[in-house]
Amino acid sequence: MNNEISIIRPDDWHLHLRDGDMLAAVLPSSAKIYGRAIVMPNLVPPVTTARLAEDYRRRIISFRPEGSHFDPLMTCYLTDTTSADDIHTAYAVKAFHAVKLFPAGATTNSANGVTDIKKVYPVLEAMQEIGMPLSVHGEVTDPEVDIFDREAVFIDRVLDPTRRDFPDLKIVFEHLTSKAGVDYVLAQDKNMVATITPHHLLLTRNDLFKGGMNPYMYCLPVAKTFEDRDAIRKAAVSGDERFFLGTDSAPHFSRAKEKAGAAAGIFNAPTSIGYVTQIFDELGALKKLEGFTSIYGARFYGFSPNGNTITLAKRETPVEMDWQIKVGGDTVKIFKPDTPLFWDLVD
Ligand code: DOR
Ligand code: ZN
Repeated sequence: MNNEISIIRPDDWHLHLRDGDMLAAVLPSSAKIYGRAIVMPNLVPPVTTARLAEDYRRRIISFRPEGSHFDPLMTCYLTDTTSADDIHTAYAVKAFHAVKLFPAGATTNSANGVTDIKKVYPVLEAMQEIGMPLSVHGEVTDPEVDIFDREAVFIDRVLDPTRRDFPDLKIVFEHLTSKAGVDYVLAQDKNMVATITPHHLLLTRNDLFKGGMNPYMYCLPVAKTFEDRDAIRKAAVSGDERFFLGTDSAPHFSRAKEKAGAAAGIFNAPTSIGYVTQIFDELGALKKLEGFTSIYGARFYGFSPNGNTITLAKRETPVEMDWQIKVGGDTVKIFKPDTPLFWDLVD
């Protein structure tokens, strides 16, 4: 029985850090665990230019805890009017490490997103040429499509046609939630990877309604069926390099979560690596953990794995903490599913 494990320091290949007081409050949770993170650009207003990305990166670094080497890797928010030339220039100076496609209206702060994939074809052409990855929120927004089918329908209507038109474009299918998504990635022979979140490894759609409607289990894409969760778990522990960790930690104030029209997003940064380790342990796959958390994503984005390690320990009793952080006079609640947490970072 393995009660302690050391792994190369992980990276978070999908993270929302927000800005201002919220950024200052949530950043230490990620910086404590992860060496690098792909930082999502859905601020208000969105991060659409190299200049905005550089400013945002500077603000993140200014809030880094003393002694932290956490490296924020910036992304560009794709809009209908993004210019291919700007992408070329930004890539040359590594201002962006990926371009993020939010279908307009699909999720939090996506109003400026892409209304029709064809409108960004010149940008995709440029990205294909230079090797810049496209990070994709894979859901259609058609109100006639059942919310639980939006990922599968996105594959048919948007992702697969785009892949056919740009076979050499590197694509990251973000936060996989369905067996259809896993099967699609598995069926591709190149240029197609996917991130998997801790919460989609843990939750099914039942959790949204257990004990009454629970907005703290609500994110987009929504958690799906047991069969879908099993497919995601299997992909994560498979040792297949196409699947790696992206927490999608997405903080919202409690007042934005505890209301009608609750915000989508789960703040999981503090418990993320503990829960991922726990799932790998339960599935008898601790040997595959390091690849998923610390190697495959780095390789895809063109980095070496981090040069140091972290240690996690399995506690005898569930990990206890405050399960919330304070931001000014408000709070942000930490992801706390029904499953008690036993794995914890050793300081
Ligand atoms: O649940 C989500 N929250 N999904 C997203 O795609 C965005 C994120 C956020 O920014 O809050
Ligand atoms: Zn996200």
